[in-house]
Amino acid sequence: MAFHHIPVLLNEVLEALNPQPGETYADGTLGGGGHSGEILKRMGETGTLYGIDRDEAAIAAATERLKSYPGFHAVHGNFHDVKELLPGVRLNGGLLDLGVSSFQLDTPDRGFSYHEDAPLDMRMDTTQGMTAAEYVNTVSERDFCQALRDYGDEKWAARIAQMLMEKRAQKPLKTTADLVAVVDAAIPKAVRRKWSTTNWPPWKRP
Ligand SMILES: C[S@@+](CC[C@H](N)C(=O)[O-])C[C@H]1O[C@@H](n2cnc3c(N)ncnc32)[C@H](O)[C@@H]1O
Repeated sequence: MAFHHIPVLLNEVLEALNPQPGETYADGTLGGGGHSGEILKRMGETGTLYGIDRDEAAIAAATERLKSYPGFHAVHGNFHDVKELLPGVRLNGGLLDLGVSSFQLDTPDRGFSYHEDAPLDMRMDTTQGMTAAEYVNTVSERDFCQALRDYGDEKWAARIAQMLMEKRAQKPLKTTADLVAVVDAAIPKAVRRKWSTTNWPPWKRP
């Protein structure tokens, strides 16, 4: 699977950073290297760019894509740890393009998409941390409800959390389809029917 990411607000990012030859930048969310490639192009051979990403697949894809730039350095890690990842490096600027990459969404095995049934993983860094399956099979009803409200603005949070407890008591969740089944069972049919014609996918709901 290839990275097909169209860098968002590319012209605005380049205008704001205004990268020049000899400068040093950090891209904290390297992804497929779309933004980084354009920054490197403007700096030429004397520029330096550190591309950080939690996802090893992103690191591999961007390393291949940007291999002709001598100043490009890929760094596997969390941008939150930038001081430890780039000790002593002085930056002219940096960029964060937050979110999930199209590659992560389009690769069923990563478990981010509900379009195909796949293992419920959802980790950006597959080398560490808890999978989504481990999380939904152990989280308390109260914490899950709170997470759906805080991070998803989900108005059906309480019902979804309650349904999760019921379903996982029958059988632990393993796949994205198992999680979809929880949400389906929690939300009244009439509401779902409305979403499917007007507001689907759910993140486009008003
Ligand atoms: C929207 S994509 C970036 C696409 C990139 N700007 C491009 O043009 O190809 C977001 C990327 O950020 C990474 N990411 C998300 N949170 C991160 C974090 N805390 N530290 C490092 N990388 C992170 C994801 O793994 C994903 O590859």
